[in-house]
Amino acid sequence: MTPGSIEIDHLSAAYGRGARRVTALTDVTLDIGTGEIFGLLGPNGAGKSTLLACVQGLHTPERGSVRVGGLDVQRQPAATKRQLGVQLQKTALLDDLTLAELIEVYAALYEVYLARGQVTALLERYTLGQQRNQLARRLSGGQQQRLALALAVANDPRIVLLDEPTSALDPHARRAVWDSIRALHDEGRTVVLTTHSMEEAEALCGRVAIIDEGRIVAADTPARLIAGLGASPVLKATVELPLERVRDLPGVLAARYAGQHLELETAQPQATLAALHELAARLGRSIGDVLLRQPNLEDVFLKRTGRALSDG
Ligand SMILES: Nc1ncnc2c1ncn2[C@@H]1O[C@H](COP(=O)(O)OP(=O)(O)O)[C@@H](O)[C@H]1O
Ligand SMILES: [Mg+2]
Repeated sequence: MTPGSIEIDHLSAAYGRGARRVTALTDVTLDIGTGEIFGLLGPNGAGKSTLLACVQGLHTPERGSVRVGGLDVQRQPAATKRQLGVQLQKTALLDDLTLAELIEVYAALYEVYLARGQVTALLERYTLGQQRNQLARRLSGGQQQRLALALAVANDPRIVLLDEPTSALDPHARRAVWDSIRALHDEGRTVVLTTHSMEEAEALCGRVAIIDEGRIVAADTPARLIAGLGASPVLKATVELPLERVRDLPGVLAARYAGQHLELETAQPQATLAALHELAARLGRSIGDVLLRQPNLEDVFLKRTGRALSDG
């Protein structure tokens, strides 16, 4: 028994048969440890939701196995389900119930019966205490996502699965959901979330698996994935300078113009920036916006798949 862990072993999954067959996952192996925030990062159609469905036992894989807390999902569906709290990609909330009623119903689905005070405490933790007697359909987008999180933990699970918890939220609501996810982590729960936002994966996840066309193409901490690229930071500046002079500045590995923006790959950002200012002053040019961009998970995705992961 390893409570809170998920072991995915050579998992393959598909939908349909014959000419209609669609492969969704191919030979996925992942070990997710107790207490991790683990991200599944990939574009639409990559297989993220299917993977979560296999972990819940909602989709039967063609090959391979999933163990939740050491128990085989296919062989012991009820015992594995009790360890999981789930927020589906499109939560079909029962619109005509109040928030307090919804919490009670969700917990009862797992045979957990909450006292009134426990329901209130749960809603307050997701800053929904004021709305306890409102109907779910009257909530804003951000409130609905916070409610979905409250419902996901109504049965006090060891493991929480969140399918795109912040897609379609504005930046403020998104940050509130991020804080709630971090709180789940602080309580010692294992969190597995899917996202197509590299920013979200970097902000929240201790480890990330990059998934593309049903395959895991890389899995590690964001920092190690990025360091593994061996890519250098990029300095962007709005300035007109001769490229051959710029290429001789200290630290510069490559220089190019993208429209009016000078882009420099540099091994020594500070030294390069200082020298760039000096050169511009000597030639009587002014430097507009300056920005230093570190290599990120977007660059990792591009390198591993040859395509851009659109962030959004
Ligand atoms: N119910 C379904 N019937 C047929 N194909 C499906 C179904 N659900 C998903 N798929 C296909 O399986 C693949 C993986 O989908 P999905 O797991 O939903 O990806 P993601 O969640 O990463 O967007 C896609 O090619 C998708 O079109
Ligand atoms: Mg999905």
